[in-house]
Amino acid sequence: MPDPYSALAAGYDAVMAHVDYPMWAATVQGIVRRHHPQARSVAELGCGTGALAVALQPYGPPPSGYDYRAFDGSPAMVEQARETVRRAGRPVALGVLAFGETVPGPPADLVVLVYDGLNYLLDLDAVTALFESVRDALAPDGIAVVDQSTPANSVNHAADGFDDAGETDAFSYLRTSRYDAGARLHTTEFELTLPDGRRLRETHVQRAYTMDEVEAAAAAAGLAAVAAYDEFEDVPADDATERVHWVFARADSEARPA
Ligand SMILES: C[S@@+](CC[C@H](N)C(=O)[O-])C[C@H]1O[C@@H](n2cnc3c(N)ncnc32)[C@H](O)[C@@H]1O
Repeated sequence: MPDPYSALAAGYDAVMAHVDYPMWAATVQGIVRRHHPQARSVAELGCGTGALAVALQPYGPPPSGYDYRAFDGSPAMVEQARETVRRAGRPVALGVLAFGETVPGPPADLVVLVYDGLNYLLDLDAVTALFESVRDALAPDGIAVVDQSTPANSVNHAADGFDDAGETDAFSYLRTSRYDAGARLHTTEFELTLPDGRRLRETHVQRAYTMDEVEAAAAAAGLAAVAAYDEFEDVPADDATERVHWVFARADSEARPA
């Protein structure tokens, strides 16, 4: 796949310094406690630089936490994740995996995919293929926690454009973000200047799906929606929600959590 993170990966954590991953991991763990408190194993997709993995892994059962594997489609992000995991000293197995590919390893109690990974798939067939791989990766009583960014998020934050600039140890950057409400495409351009003066451009295109579209794609893949949470709260998502945390279970399972 084209990798819009190949150069960005080295400075991704600095660009995302405002994201509170310990809080995000606590939110996911709150969902697990509510819907599948016996969970012992996790397969994370779209793990990026591993920031969520090292925060969530210790929440698993003692003495060593979750049996945790994490994947991303970008080799450069996985390389950064290896460093994150090594520095944190957490037992997280890592690999390169594109969405929709078979998730290696035994069935997982929890599949996690957060922070817009799903939105990087630009058509619903690809979203359905992703969900099929999630269904196949789940143990019969397992759950998937998958987030999505909604059209409300892009309208509220990028309809008039969003520009910023910053510095990391790996590069300085200019970021422009635009939302085409008709096509529901959100495009973010990073212009990176490396320490040796070289300039690189990386383009990220995401599609803002409605909740109905995502739920239908999941259903077509054999996943039943158990809950849809508003942002990081324990309240149902609605039309104004900017980020939804979905909880899915295998539709074919007798052991499906409520
Ligand atoms: C916004 S980043 C979020 C990363 C991480 N989950 C986090 O919270 O920091 C989106 C991630 O999705 C990955 N991604 C995008 N499209 C993908 C695809 N088709 N297959 C696998 N990973 C993909 C990117 O490489 C990137 O690491």
